[in-house]
Amino acid sequence: WKTIDDMDLGGKRVLIRVDINVPVEDGRVTDATRIERIVPTIRDVMDKGGKPILLAHFGRPKGREVPEMSLAQIVPALEEKIGATVRFAASGFAEAVSALAAGEVLLLENVRFHPGEEKNDKGFASELAELGDVFINDAFSAAHRAHASTEAIAHLMPSAAGRLMEAELKALEAALGDPKRPVAALVGGAKVSTKLDLLENLVSRVDHLVIGGGMANTFLVAQGIEVGASLAERDMAETARRIVAKAESAGCTIHLPVDIVIAQEFKAGAESRSVDVADCPEGWMILDAGEQTVERLVELFGDCATLIWNGPLGAFEIEPFDRATNAAARAVADRSREGKLTSVAGGGDTVAALNKAGVAEDFTYVSTAGGAFLEWMEGKTLPGVAALGG
Ligand code: 3PG
Repeated sequence: WKTIDDMDLGGKRVLIRVDINVPVEDGRVTDATRIERIVPTIRDVMDKGGKPILLAHFGRPKGREVPEMSLAQIVPALEEKIGATVRFAASGFAEAVSALAAGEVLLLENVRFHPGEEKNDKGFASELAELGDVFINDAFSAAHRAHASTEAIAHLMPSAAGRLMEAELKALEAALGDPKRPVAALVGGAKVSTKLDLLENLVSRVDHLVIGGGMANTFLVAQGIEVGASLAERDMAETARRIVAKAESAGCTIHLPVDIVIAQEFKAGAESRSVDVADCPEGWMILDAGEQTVERLVELFGDCATLIWNGPLGAFEIEPFDRATNAAARAVADRSREGKLTSVAGGGDTVAALNKAGVAEDFTYVSTAGGAFLEWMEGKTLPGVAALGG
């Protein structure tokens, strides 16, 4: 794929697909990370003399105009982070583009208000393409969607990857494409069923697979270990055994908890105990990995050159069940800071967990992507990346 460096942008109208699908409460952006991360692309486009026209989605309005999902509410946060005037067009896009002055940025209304967007409709993509001369895709986190503004449009005009897209792709390539070995993946989260493809792909690509969270319980059940009242998908036990067998033949070591933190209730400050993994009594739930497990993980990370992190090790939202996640994340952060470990984190709850542990900025790279990160880890081709030519 091409980058901004390969494009002549002087005097051009530059359509930039961004992901500003950020959390908003009462009309205010509560986490501006995704906005901060697109600023370099917008600034570079302006520095090269281009006029930035931002295409973006917000929420899932399903092809209808839903006022609460208007991108107008994101404008103040964009202006603050970019440090330039951001014009907004709810309609009359062509007029708004012609009226755009040098040094200003234009944001067009939520592309998902149009039914053609999610259908990857060529007609809608052409309407968008006519608004610009060049297309830059900076929305890695929406690249798993084959939509008009992420896929079809890239075939209609000169296209390139933005700075954030470039950074995401480079980091992911360093983690799974051609990583320094040994490479470990830590996958947590509630259910095996939602991460099946991901686990299957990882066991043939990484040297160590650490399984945490509710998913680990399913693997314990598969080994005949009783997990009491814990969240576990008993009907997935056979699948878990198949993944373990595949890992063995691929030379990938699976790491499960050796000790656990259990409680009878899932609430803050609930009475909890640390026990051996085989000692979860009836009526008790596994809510975190124990100290010995964390010690082993710290040792493992000390031996690894690359680590991919997706998902928490325990029920990290509620104390004290965030301890294993925090301690393991701190160990990764320390090794990464020393330059001894390339660590890449992403997907859903992951960034929230790392932020809570206060270590996100010490990871080598934290992806802005949720679903796209997971699909990439599953080994799938992301349509928005493929459309850029690679
Ligand atoms: C995200 O928030 O992960 C992206 O913006 C994609 O959103 P979507 O899952 O609604 O396509």
